[in-house]
Amino acid sequence: MDNRPVGFFDSGFGGLTALSAFRSILPEEDILFFGDSGRAPYGPKSAEEIRTCASNILHFFLNSGVKAVFAACGTCSLLAGDLIADCGVLSCNVVTPSVEWLAAQEDVLPLGIIATAASIRSGGFEKALRNAGVSRDIISVSCPDFVTLIEAGIPASDPRVIEAVERYLSPIRDAGASTLLLGCTHYGIIEPAIRDFMGNDITILSASDCGAYALAKTLRKHGLTGGTGKESFFTSGDAEEFRRTGSLILGRDLGPVRAVCDWEDIR
Ligand code: DGL
Repeated sequence: MDNRPVGFFDSGFGGLTALSAFRSILPEEDILFFGDSGRAPYGPKSAEEIRTCASNILHFFLNSGVKAVFAACGTCSLLAGDLIADCGVLSCNVVTPSVEWLAAQEDVLPLGIIATAASIRSGGFEKALRNAGVSRDIISVSCPDFVTLIEAGIPASDPRVIEAVERYLSPIRDAGASTLLLGCTHYGIIEPAIRDFMGNDITILSASDCGAYALAKTLRKHGLTGGTGKESFFTSGDAEEFRRTGSLILGRDLGPVRAVCDWEDIR
């Protein structure tokens, strides 16, 4: 039993999909959630910039006394995986458990992966899947417009989202993929549009769900569960905006969001 909070982080609202999945498993955990909206999107950034963002946030969490950190961000999981794993407290990411889930599938039909430009450019998903023995065809596509639309609060039903889904996902649908990995945690927010376009026969796997499940399992395994269900939200962007859009995405009020403006303070 350990009542210290768990630190969740992402470039912005994407991490809320992981929070939502995690809450349905362990509702009593205390959570510090950091959405780096002031520096989103991470997708177009260099590996070095992404590592700086992750490192700043890890310091913030360690100074806040977390018992574990959760990279609720595919891009950080891939580009800053070593920093997260070596941060000094228990950690989980969204990529490793997704790869494990896919490696356990017996399906031989093509696998589609959608993620940020930085994630796809890193080749990290393919490398991990091949290392895990996955030999099926993999079609990887980066979808840069998705995060921009989602961070602007544009919903899945908006024609701009529907157009972008069609543009990015056509090659995966045309290849006859039987599974689609949402390798960026933001993408679950527009899953209805993705499902509409891809049809009902495809398995859509969410990296957020895989990560949330793995985090709960790890906390239980180490006897670290416990808390009162308290949530504290922080952002490097506009606090009121984060509360407004984040509450719409999560389907409940986030409560007060605190703005963290000075990275020097938290390094
Ligand atoms: N949600 C993040 C991910 O899972 C980052 C998206 C972005 O900021 O580009 O990769």
